[in-house]
Amino acid sequence: MKKVLFTFVILGNFLLMAENIDTKKTMQALEVSMGTIQKGLLYNHRGILKKGIESLKEEIKNIDSFIIKNDESLNFNAKHYAETEVKALTLLSSKILEDFDSGKKEDVMIAYEQILNRCVTCHKLIRKW
Ligand code: HEC
Repeated sequence: MKKVLFTFVILGNFLLMAENIDTKKTMQALEVSMGTIQKGLLYNHRGILKKGIESLKEEIKNIDSFIIKNDESLNFNAKHYAETEVKALTLLSSKILEDFDSGKKEDVMIAYEQILNRCVTCHKLIRKW
């Protein structure tokens, strides 16, 4: 019996680790995408900007594929929150390219900042960073 339990604990730990690695990979890819977007803006290069936005949109889809561990005492639906954020971040990143194309550089910067704010807000909320 002890052996079986032990196996489950080990297996459980592996699954948790796998989840964490996936999250980290997604997050690191998001960070790289944000860097690419910023590069596109600084070089005023539509191709680089578009590349960053496309990879951000692709990676963002993975955010809602995990349930974020959160404070049990909080009456907070982390999964629902993650899904809402995915939608908002996707819309904002599309907006960057649209505003860039219509020459609204200030709006582009506002949308970029709003994305970054949402990244940090989630980290603050979920990880207490
Ligand atoms: C809905 C919540 C949520 C949103 C939105 C979010 N993150 Fe994260 N982020 C996390 C969680 C959870 C972790 C911790 C992952 C871990 O340690 O397993 C994390 C960690 C990170 C890390 C550290 C990764 C590491 O290797 O330690 C980076 C970088 C990061 N996020 C970038 C971003 C960027 C850029 C955005 C916005 C485009 C973003 N995140 C949006 C939840 C979120």
